[in-house]
Amino acid sequence: MKYGHFDDAQREYVIDNYKTPYPWINYLGNKDFFSIISNTAGGYSFYKDARLRRLTRYRYNNVPLDDGGKYFYINDNGSVWSPGWKPVKADIDNYTCRHGLGYTVIKSEKDALEAEMLFFVPLGDTCEVQKVRLLNKGHKPKSIKLFSFVEWCLWNALDDMTNFQRNFSTGQVEVEGSVIYHKTEYRERRNHYAFYSASLPVSGFETDRETFLGMYNGFDHPDTVFDGKPQNSVAHGWSPVASHCFDIELQPGEEKSIVFVLGYVENPDDEKFTAPQVINKTRAKAMTSRYDSAEKVIRSLAELRKYWDTQLSVLNVNHPDPRLSRMVNIWNPYQCMVTYNMSRSASYFESGIGRGMGFRDSNQDLVGYVHMIAEQSKQRLIDIASTQFDDGSAYHQYQPLTKRGNAEIGGNFNDDPLWLIFGVAAYIRETGNWSVLDEIVPFNNDSTNAASLFEHLNRSFRHVINHRGPHGLPLIGRADWNDCLNLNCFSNNPDESFQTTENQKGGKAESVFIAAMFVLYGGDFVKMALKRGETQLAAEAQKHIDEMIRVINEYGWDGNWFLRAYDYYGNKIGSHENEEGKIFIESQGMCIMAGIGLDDGRAAKTLKSVNERLACEYGIVLNNPAFTKYYIQMGEISSYPEGYKENAGVFCHNNPWIIISETLTGNGDRAFDYYKRITPSYLEEISDLHRTEPYVYSQMVAGKDAFRPGEAKNSWLTGTASWCMYTVSQYILGIRPDFEGLRIDPCIPAEWDGFSITRKFRGAVYHIEVMNPDHKSKGIKEMTVDGTIHRSDILPLFAAGTEHNVRVILGNK
Ligand code: GLC
Ligand code: GLC
Repeated sequence: MKYGHFDDAQREYVIDNYKTPYPWINYLGNKDFFSIISNTAGGYSFYKDARLRRLTRYRYNNVPLDDGGKYFYINDNGSVWSPGWKPVKADIDNYTCRHGLGYTVIKSEKDALEAEMLFFVPLGDTCEVQKVRLLNKGHKPKSIKLFSFVEWCLWNALDDMTNFQRNFSTGQVEVEGSVIYHKTEYRERRNHYAFYSASLPVSGFETDRETFLGMYNGFDHPDTVFDGKPQNSVAHGWSPVASHCFDIELQPGEEKSIVFVLGYVENPDDEKFTAPQVINKTRAKAMTSRYDSAEKVIRSLAELRKYWDTQLSVLNVNHPDPRLSRMVNIWNPYQCMVTYNMSRSASYFESGIGRGMGFRDSNQDLVGYVHMIAEQSKQRLIDIASTQFDDGSAYHQYQPLTKRGNAEIGGNFNDDPLWLIFGVAAYIRETGNWSVLDEIVPFNNDSTNAASLFEHLNRSFRHVINHRGPHGLPLIGRADWNDCLNLNCFSNNPDESFQTTENQKGGKAESVFIAAMFVLYGGDFVKMALKRGETQLAAEAQKHIDEMIRVINEYGWDGNWFLRAYDYYGNKIGSHENEEGKIFIESQGMCIMAGIGLDDGRAAKTLKSVNERLACEYGIVLNNPAFTKYYIQMGEISSYPEGYKENAGVFCHNNPWIIISETLTGNGDRAFDYYKRITPSYLEEISDLHRTEPYVYSQMVAGKDAFRPGEAKNSWLTGTASWCMYTVSQYILGIRPDFEGLRIDPCIPAEWDGFSITRKFRGAVYHIEVMNPDHKSKGIKEMTVDGTIHRSDILPLFAAGTEHNVRVILGNK
């Protein structure tokens, strides 16, 4: 069952049934100020850091679900309703919620009154702009009351939901005209306040929650709204809120718009006050004046749309299947940009207080957006590398506000260092900017201990060499990509974390996955060394890689697939000899991507095993058979019920590794089949089972062993976004940036007639048409560039600003 439809021309998903199977959300904001907004106007806003600078309050896992947001209430002669359905939940007509790129519009109607709410964060400002438009569609004049509502968070989101003995006494506001200022803690250590302004004079306001709602009411029944009488309350402690009230007269056919600005302002220390206790409002007023009319708001929204036009113009496919085009052209890159901004911090599954920027996650996210924001990508790489230690190891996470490594989480996830090579290589492949390797970057943010980015990569590479186990395979440390494969942890205490608790001494567990990563990304390191003329270094590194290949062949092959690891005792993991967890997905994908088994039939054998044992209707599960009991030597993976998360869930992030492997063996049919199983636009019809948004990937879909296979969780903030973008554009459609230029190497279902793609690359524009008259999956029969036969599969580089036509005919030479 569907709950809406895609509007590709507008680049929107249009929800027409507000009772979606789970709140379907959108993100507003591109740089410093962000909001999350659901299809019923739930959600919250923050400045830069969802934990430390949260503007408005949100209660996760609350009852009812998704309560708290940017609410508007209408009192139409005693009939009270909300245009977003929630929180009042009165019956409304003609509801639509349009989630667009960086904006959301919710429109509905009741008793011949149409109400439309627009929400967006303008480019370059630290505020959310809201425009409410009311239209009297009836034949009689209407006299209504409109109320706005937000609840302030006392900045630190964790403290806000725990430290009530203090918090109930600290809340402070100021009201001036139609602007409500939230200034809790401003008089002491904070240099920032928030405000909520309106473009029309108010007939009253409320800033004290208890006065607005009534002691025992929920958001669905505020006394002030139902009585129609604002008390002009000024909050002192307890829970400050902001609500404006307007008396609005509408003649038949008349419409009125009011603009609201929810803003964040910082003042220098010597400009904080204009009088004792009176905050300096200059910057807030300047900000509101940029949006004080409907015309200014529309102009600002148009700029935002233009920004997205530019971002999305870098890669544009034209394919007869709209489900494919809309993912590649719109929603997948959009989700990648959200992961750039959020990492894994704030979504409807990530509370915004837990996770900072992941070292490995952020490097992987980069391949999904580097073609759109190369300059920011470079800065991101330098931020990440600055948290690396000088022995090559890394903090597992860093904090977005300070950009410092997170000591609470620590390090020793032994795959982390190699992901930096992957990220840097992706940046160079896209931009051709080799000089990035000369950037001087500190270790652990200590400027007295710094080296070139290339040297950082060298340390990453060495870290693996310096940490090898009994078979010569890399030691896993706390875990590798699979956070829940905690092979040295041996935890029997429910009060400790699998990932951060002290590991058993002398941890000898080894990872075949890291070994394959070392071969694959080590190969990129060698290419970089050669490019820099470091031939000796390159030769020596290549020797280590060759040795690792030998070790994988000798100790990493199980007969029909690759082993996953060796545990603390040297026992095999992911072998037919095991009772449970005989086969794991990660090492299959990573080994084949590294080229292992491609020329001796083992890759094909492996992919057959994956297809038989791991693939299911909803994607490829992580392991099989699922673990049915807790194995202390395996860790968290065996703690999850069968079919969920890392224990045999479809952990979508790693499915692309198999899809890429299929393309490397030329199986375009199976590659695309797997792609469709996890890609949300293909799952729209089963939204009631799938539950999460049909326009973005989810981290995990319950696997075949689960109670409800096909049910997704944890949408938006997942490495699935970047890996799918990378896979579909570079390996299925086969337009792949490489160090020397743009490589053309599609691997598609044989039945396709072809497709075309426009790709901006290093300044030039390539119009690429791929034709498939012989119905092959892979192989280039003939290619022309601007009408001339071109024999290499790498396109020539061209001057910036020039446009070129490339025609590709697939087939046998
Ligand atoms: C989560 C983590 C990621 C990890 C994956 C598998 O997505 O963010 O770092 O690789 O789980 O455990
Ligand atoms: C990763 C995994 C998740 C695990 C968490 C840490 O995000 O995806 O399954 O529970 O790390 O506890």
